[in-house]
Amino acid sequence: RYEQNAELLKRLTESAHFFQSQLTQSPSKKKATDYLATERGLSGQIAKVYGIGFAPPGWDNLLKAIGKRAEQQEQLLQGGMLIEKKDQQGHYYDRFRDRIMFPIRDSRGRVIAFGGRAFGDEKPKYLNSPETAVFNKSHELYGLFEAKQNTQNLDHIIVVEGYMDVIVLAQYGITNAVATLGTSVNSQHIRKLFKLVNKITLCFDGDKAGRAAAIRGLEASLPVMQDGKQARFLFLPDGEDPDSLVRQEGQEAFLARLEDANSLANVLFEHARNQVTLDHEEGDAEFARNAMTLIQQIPNDITYRSVLLKQLSNESGIEKEELN
Ligand code: UTP
Ligand code: MN
Ligand code: MN
Ligand code: MN
Ligand code: MN
Repeated sequence: RYEQNAELLKRLTESAHFFQSQLTQSPSKKKATDYLATERGLSGQIAKVYGIGFAPPGWDNLLKAIGKRAEQQEQLLQGGMLIEKKDQQGHYYDRFRDRIMFPIRDSRGRVIAFGGRAFGDEKPKYLNSPETAVFNKSHELYGLFEAKQNTQNLDHIIVVEGYMDVIVLAQYGITNAVATLGTSVNSQHIRKLFKLVNKITLCFDGDKAGRAAAIRGLEASLPVMQDGKQARFLFLPDGEDPDSLVRQEGQEAFLARLEDANSLANVLFEHARNQVTLDHEEGDAEFARNAMTLIQQIPNDITYRSVLLKQLSNESGIEKEELN
């Protein structure tokens, strides 16, 4: 099993090298370099740090370049890079075609999967590798390896939604951002980050989806809270994501927003209040119950839980003992 994965990982590394080489060697390289430089404003240097590449148009560019032997094809298939033809067993074509390629590295720096962005409005906008023996997408965080490599005294990690958010923030000197991979942030992600740093900030796009994701982020954080750890929440203005905002406002302004991020308690109580359907004393009781339901998800040996209970007690006028 271990050796099998080692071969598969080799094919993924070769794939990353192939995609990178196509930015300088493909006959359609101009389309890709124009997109990266002009449309997305990326420097060559940052493209290199994140290993960005290009899957040229065509059905078998990768297959021909690194899948010459049947054994290699099998490994590329296991790695999610090829798809088997429906009517021809043992015959394959490239999964990623005509896309900008983002290698996804594990926290040790090994390429384990890819995200591929379409150039225009083609669907899906981002095509990601399927789950494989080496890629569990609900566990991995894009950019974590790069953040560890490029940030001095890494003590705070920002979690954003997208690949481009991570990369553009890094281009603006904010190298400590990571992204979930098309899933919302979960407790596994947060536990993993809390092993590395004491402070995380969950950052959400300023849209309806972003606000819903923040609530899931809150619920994911509660069960993995520990004393000495802090989770904060940053909501961006309507229609903006970290990529668009840091370009508009620059590094300083984005750092100021991070400084100002909401506390977990703030988001928790506000959510409990927003969920209230009744008025008068019945509404007060409902608020207290909503907040308790959330607070109870924090492990009960955590001092922070007592602090939130005390705060709820002050706000609702209900004794701590009664709340419990
Ligand atoms: P967004 O729709 O916010 O895209 O999705 P984006 O990152 O701002 O993309 P650009 O700026 O238009 O290039 C956020 C993340 O959700 C996942 C990707 O990981 C993406 O970075 N996603 C999005 C997918 O996996 N598939 C999709 O089709 C769209
Ligand atoms: Mn891992
Ligand atoms: Mn979005
Ligand atoms: Mn976005
Ligand atoms: Mn974007």
